[in-house]
Amino acid sequence: MTTIIALGLQWGDEGKGKVIDYLCEKAQMVVRACGGANAGHSIHTDGRKYVLHLIPSGIVHEGVRCLLGSGMVISLSSLEKEIAGLTEALGRNINESIGISHGAHIILPWHSELEQMRESSSKPVGSTLRGIGPAYETRASRFGITAGMLAHPDMLRKNLEILRGSIAPDSTVSVDMIFDELMNYAAWVVPMLADVSLEVFNARKNGVEILFEGAQGILLDVFHGTFPYVTSSNTVTGGIYAGIGVGPNGDEKIIGIVKAYTTRVGLGPFPTELFDATGEKIRDVGKEFGATTGRPRRCGWLDLVALRYAVRLSGVTSIALTKVDVLNDFEEIMICDSYIDGEGHEISEFPPSGIGLENCKPIYTKLKGWKSFSSGALPLPLIDYIRLIEERCDVEVSIISMGPDRRDTIEL
Ligand code: IMP
Repeated sequence: MTTIIALGLQWGDEGKGKVIDYLCEKAQMVVRACGGANAGHSIHTDGRKYVLHLIPSGIVHEGVRCLLGSGMVISLSSLEKEIAGLTEALGRNINESIGISHGAHIILPWHSELEQMRESSSKPVGSTLRGIGPAYETRASRFGITAGMLAHPDMLRKNLEILRGSIAPDSTVSVDMIFDELMNYAAWVVPMLADVSLEVFNARKNGVEILFEGAQGILLDVFHGTFPYVTSSNTVTGGIYAGIGVGPNGDEKIIGIVKAYTTRVGLGPFPTELFDATGEKIRDVGKEFGATTGRPRRCGWLDLVALRYAVRLSGVTSIALTKVDVLNDFEEIMICDSYIDGEGHEISEFPPSGIGLENCKPIYTKLKGWKSFSSGALPLPLIDYIRLIEERCDVEVSIISMGPDRRDTIEL
């Protein structure tokens, strides 16, 4: 049996929810590895829209086991709201389908306070203000609260005291307030605790079809992304294995999800960003507003330099190209295949960790638009567009997505 790993190859918002939902149709288990409620995965199916922030996309399919790995940082108030909303929308109890790793960290009001303070300083990164960065920070500093501690009140209280002393000595939110709140959550969280690593290991041994769901995008990876304008987790394929607690076993299909153009939210360099009417048209047609924060997304043409870098970092075996329909109505489409760097040299490799990317100017190849395609044989200009991506990134495009609904998907 194959494990599918699906992850975003740009700066997030590649349309992962839709593709993962499509790929989930055969999966019996879907696992999220990292990130938290900074993610927003939208799924449109049977005339309904679901936006998932923490729960793996498999939840909309009955009988799929959905696991949240140790690499995640979880806000329990967001999770509670998400479970309540989905229970109502799906008309069934979903609690038993969800497993939360003992090792996942819990985001507390102190983390959010710290992030609010930092983001209002002179050096913001444009974060989603979900407390993600501070939660990963406290984990890396070897304190913080894990989901498993909710089953051990004494350990929980002791660790809350250490955490408060370290990051929030002056906060008006006391240890007692948070302890009481967490004990209320414990009533429904503890029954959901799971040994995610072992469950996934055994499921793979028993031939269960599994999907590992990436969050954010490779260019936001904390080690390899456009630092410091990155998220705080490893969004590359290796981060997915680490976040779940399993290793590669050679049977994986790694599908990189790529939007037919590029978007970015928050701050940071973006060579192909458009500041003109074309950028606005892409934003309007593509409804490019954040699923988590509602912020307008910065829009630009597809960047093959960045994509080659992401393909290298992720080891993808194929690409799912999304939102192709958004470019339906363009006479001409630009695609960037190299940059002029800050010293005037043409470069075709992404600057390591994006250093100097803010000074890189895109060199474009102009292609003919395919104009209004929805089904049937692919128009020639679209075939040319896909071939160029395949040739320049040395990986095949196996799926194209022509709209938000599961049915608007073409396997090539
Ligand atoms: P954080 O993950 O909230 O710390 O935000 C750090 C950076 O990553 C900001 O630029 C965010 O806009 C960006 N980011 C985080 N999660 C996502 C996502 O799911 N999609 C797109 N951008 C994201």
